[in-house]
Amino acid sequence: MLATTQFATNFVILYLFLGIAGAYPTTFTVVNKCNHTVWPAISPRPITPMLSTTGFALAPGELSTIIIAIPPSWSGHLWARTLCANDINGKFACVTGDCSSSTVECDDGSATPPATLAEFTLNASSGQDFFKVSFLEGYNIPIMIEPKSGNGIGECTMVGCDVDLNSLCPSEAKLMRGSDCVACKNAGACPLANVDASKMFQGICDSTNYLITFCPKTTSKRLV
Ligand SMILES: *[C@@H]1O[C@H](CO)[C@@H](O)[C@H](O)[C@H]1NC(C)=O
Ligand SMILES: *[C@@H]1O[C@H](CO)[C@@H](O)[C@H](O)[C@H]1NC(C)=O
Repeated sequence: MLATTQFATNFVILYLFLGIAGAYPTTFTVVNKCNHTVWPAISPRPITPMLSTTGFALAPGELSTIIIAIPPSWSGHLWARTLCANDINGKFACVTGDCSSSTVECDDGSATPPATLAEFTLNASSGQDFFKVSFLEGYNIPIMIEPKSGNGIGECTMVGCDVDLNSLCPSEAKLMRGSDCVACKNAGACPLANVDASKMFQGICDSTNYLITFCPKTTSKRLV
């Protein structure tokens, strides 16, 4: 609701519904501020419904903002695949975050590490959603999650990371493509993300919209 007014009609908005529109209390607004295309993938946890889309291309810039309706009590992962293309056999494959589905749709595949994961458990406890950005499977690009309509009961804070950790990656942990480091198997240096199991950082909120931003450089001032 907030998102539809905020992004108005200047933006290409795709509503990707499962079932009846309006029946869903929650939306994810996904924005790609990277200067390259990413292929977001969304994978449900077991016994959680798959969404009507599980993977799509998202061109750079806010003009390609996508809003996805999320069923109640959904839980799962969202991440970005990068450097994707069809191989010589026509199978879709990505250098980072690949789903092994051979198609743009990820189905119920999981991310091939290293990849930054945005994790959601909606309605986890007393109507509150839990959400976090995890580097436990490594890092490929920065992700921030921002609850847009929190009712103030929980800690409706932004979580995630806006730092390019590939440039800070120890050489033995780098995933290289040519001379570029495109992902890091051992990422750190982001206090609002889950870097390792000893330092869990989780947002708790009852929000009807979550803004998920890839490469959110403009949000860095809010991390202080
Ligand atoms: C944008 O992409 C170019 C490569 O095309 C890269 O060299 C540059 O660092 C990128 N800029 C940012 C801000 O990510
Ligand atoms: C949220 O969780 C509670 C407790 O498990 C459940 O009773 C309720 O139906 C859930 N709400 C939605 C919208 O699924």
